[in-house]
Amino acid sequence: MRTCRATSVTHPNRTSAGRYPNVNTPLPCDLTIRPVRADEADQHIELTQLVDLHLSAEDLPDLITAIRASLRHEGGPLSHGLHHYLFAESPDGTPVASIHCGPPLWVLRNPAIFPHMQRKLVKRVSCIDTLAVHPDYRGRGIATTLLRRVEADFRNAGFVALTLRHEHAKRHFFTRRGYTSVASLAMILPPVGLVTQTNPGWRHAVKPLTDDVSFTTVQGLPAATGFLPA
Ligand SMILES: CC(C)(COP(=O)(O)OP(=O)(O)OC[C@H]1O[C@@H](n2cnc3c(N)ncnc32)[C@H](O)[C@@H]1OP(=O)(O)O)[C@@H](O)C(=O)NCCC(=O)NCCS
Repeated sequence: MRTCRATSVTHPNRTSAGRYPNVNTPLPCDLTIRPVRADEADQHIELTQLVDLHLSAEDLPDLITAIRASLRHEGGPLSHGLHHYLFAESPDGTPVASIHCGPPLWVLRNPAIFPHMQRKLVKRVSCIDTLAVHPDYRGRGIATTLLRRVEADFRNAGFVALTLRHEHAKRHFFTRRGYTSVASLAMILPPVGLVTQTNPGWRHAVKPLTDDVSFTTVQGLPAATGFLPA
């Protein structure tokens, strides 16, 4: 991977002394990573559509509306509340890659997870929803750098783990970057105990951000512990 300087990440509306730390990650030459602004929803959506989200055409307008709505709320602890939208942009200001993380759907939609658990979980575990690099810029380490960036930002914001859904073909991409890829997401969540989430056609991956999160074996399957305090 060809790399050059490290670039600090500053929100367009913030000073370099603001909320976002300089993680000192080597970036592919001349690219800058920065938060997406509310008026850049179209560019973010265009990059997002490079990801096969397994959505039907009818579901797309709702997704676009949700993206536009959450981009209107800039401010901490991440770029947009509990959502984190970042671009990697070229020197002429063109976004060439994007990543979005937000509250995991498995937290919000799994009936085994009660509301009081949901409120805690969305502040401790986030989900990488989309990661996309423009085809002309692939193979230069940009996705890897964006992953490292969001991992550092969420760790600094007090989160203990990131999760994501991925296609089978991306298994090695994520495992080589420290993610544990599993067919079914199994978690020990006190006070309920074992909670599982399976999505046909997808695998799940988990990246612990702190020593609070580890894996144990339950009923022969790897299960994550530490998403919630015991
Ligand atoms: C997958 C993707 C994000 C990689 O971006 P990138 O900037 O080229 O990635 P990096 O240069 O950091 O890393 C290159 C690695 O990605 C792997 N990779 C690239 N495209 C891949 C694909 N379609 N399937 C599986 N692995 C792929 C390469 O084999 C390489 O692996 P290695 O370094 O472990 O040997 C990019 O190809 C993309 O945007 N694809 C479309 C959207 C998508 O699938 N997003 C991921 C799931 S949300």
